[in-house]
Amino acid sequence: MSLVSFRDLEELGYSPEQVKAFAAEYTVTDGPNAEGDMFERPAVGSDKFPSPFPNTEAAAAANNGAAPPDFSLLAKARAPERGFPTFIFDIFTLYAENGPDYIYSLLTGYQDPPAGVEVPDTAHYNPYFIAGPALAMAPPLSDGVVTYEDGSPETVDQYAHDVAAFMMWAAEPKLVERKALGFKVMIFLSIFAILLYLSKKAVWAGLKERD
Ligand code: HEM
Repeated sequence: MSLVSFRDLEELGYSPEQVKAFAAEYTVTDGPNAEGDMFERPAVGSDKFPSPFPNTEAAAAANNGAAPPDFSLLAKARAPERGFPTFIFDIFTLYAENGPDYIYSLLTGYQDPPAGVEVPDTAHYNPYFIAGPALAMAPPLSDGVVTYEDGSPETVDQYAHDVAAFMMWAAEPKLVERKALGFKVMIFLSIFAILLYLSKKAVWAGLKERD
């Protein structure tokens, strides 16, 4: 998540102390120092989430030749078209969750390949993958890998929902505010249009049409 800073997590309700402690669990490269050397130090709130791989090539080498994408904007970058006629209904229902829905489907959609579909040994069949029938990522989630303190079910289904929602937040943290403001603007414009129409009628009321 090369575009997301640790301190952005404060918008999700974490205190600055929690963010500081969380960031300090990671080491980042900084510098150069006065001698011109790069050095390592514990991360602070203003650092971006460090990548688990030093570069794309190393990421690809560690994952059977396919590098995992950056997650910062992925929820917005993967918004599969829903096609006709669904996209017409989407205009009225304001459906805009293609990205998180895609991520959820991908995470929960791993299955055995149907008869006749050949999948290389290093790939995993998933009919939801946007670029083909199989992808290099093995199923990353399994039941019970994360403990929830609020008693939520510790299932792949729940994890996939949460990860997809988190990635959408990371891709557009101000989405809720943007939509709320947009709604108010539409109401304002509607009232303004009515006022304009009434003013126009009042201004032109005194003029008679030519015979
Ligand atoms: C909960 C954790 C994870 C999530 C939510 C996740 C999600 C995703 C998503 C959405 C894609 C993109 C698919 C696309 O391009 O449309 C992807 C690709 C990929 N991921 Fe993950 N991933 C996770 C963990 C991992 C882990 C732990 C690894 C490696 C050990 C990994 C390796 C890959 C690779 C190699 C690709 C590229 C696949 C290809 O192009 O064939 N992912 N992942």
